[in-house]
Amino acid sequence: MYLTKEEEDILNGEYGFGKQKALEILVALGKIYDADTLIPIKSAQISGVSYYNIGEAGLSFLRDISGNTRVQIKTTLNPGGMDLARWEEMKVNASFAEKQMEIIDIFKKMGVEPTLTCTPYLVGNSPKKGDHVAWAESSAVMYINSYLGAYSNRESGISALAAAIIGKTPRYGMHIKEQRKPNVRVKIETKIENSKDFGVLGYILSKKIGGEIPYIQGIKDIGEEGIKLLSASLATYTGLPIFHMEKITAEWDEFDLPKEVVEIDDHDFKYANEYLSDSFKEVDLVWIGCPHTSLKELKEIAKLLKNKKVKTELWITTSRKIKEEAKKDGIIEIIEESGAKVLCDTCVAVSPLKNIFKTLVTTSAKACYYSRGINRFLVKVTSSEKCIETAIKGVWSD
Ligand code: F3S
Repeated sequence: MYLTKEEEDILNGEYGFGKQKALEILVALGKIYDADTLIPIKSAQISGVSYYNIGEAGLSFLRDISGNTRVQIKTTLNPGGMDLARWEEMKVNASFAEKQMEIIDIFKKMGVEPTLTCTPYLVGNSPKKGDHVAWAESSAVMYINSYLGAYSNRESGISALAAAIIGKTPRYGMHIKEQRKPNVRVKIETKIENSKDFGVLGYILSKKIGGEIPYIQGIKDIGEEGIKLLSASLATYTGLPIFHMEKITAEWDEFDLPKEVVEIDDHDFKYANEYLSDSFKEVDLVWIGCPHTSLKELKEIAKLLKNKKVKTELWITTSRKIKEEAKKDGIIEIIEESGAKVLCDTCVAVSPLKNIFKTLVTTSAKACYYSRGINRFLVKVTSSEKCIETAIKGVWSD
């Protein structure tokens, strides 16, 4: 991989330990993926923020690399393991909270904005079409590559941090137009009416197309919320960084149509809905907000909860900025009067909730994957209307 004189000097340690380590990581990545050079990037999004995920080893890496090192570009942060103000209500213990705060303080000292959200594109980190960026958080990478037309590989928390420190990333994969082309045409032969079904579609695609980049036809009305849910589950279940959708995504008309065609019908949805629904009646936790809710979603939730009381825990996760906006309109008050909690800075999947809750009802197929895996919950994926109905009744009903 070609390196400039300045990059060679960074590698030789002339710009300090943090930069040297960061560039070593990028050069190693570039060699693995056969990158020809490093290219400047406009922003970064860092994952691996929860102490529940990164543990002592991750925290110690952050302590080592930070020192006097600062990020060179706009850099935002994924959710951590708790709401910074309401962690006790989440049943998080004090020693976890202390470690979590230390992680966030290290990032802040490095110049990272403590946005603590997986939807940074809703709160001011929104790349434009053609912008090269280095983002971790697979749902957000899928969203910005596909819907906004930005160029990002699926970075890990470490490679995104390294890219933010250097302000560059190795040029390979999604940074090369040709690599973004669709390989399979997917025809949707059924009507998708509920936004949670876009999440279900992500799971179905993983079974039908594996790791091929899809060009999806037959969807007219998806909305940003549907794109968000599809991006999250498609990235989770397939490992892909991008999809194309006719007349909807940023580059939908910039490639030849793939010859291979796959059809998806009611049958596929029936099978997928069964897979995404474990068997239980007693519900411990209902969670909406994977990925973090938009203002529009909060307004819809408030309508459904107005003058109602919930019998189970109902957690709605969003970014602090969106929550502040919603507060001005009285939306948060309406939601929380029902007994629900609007939590910020966090994500149920990366919170230390194993054995605290056992059953979860959620709108998100991605949340299902991680909650089954990390916290060992039994999970049902359903619409936000049904989530709220369940929280009000206190039990699941078919
Ligand atoms: Fe966000 Fe957590 Fe879901 S990071 S996309 S809320 S699993």
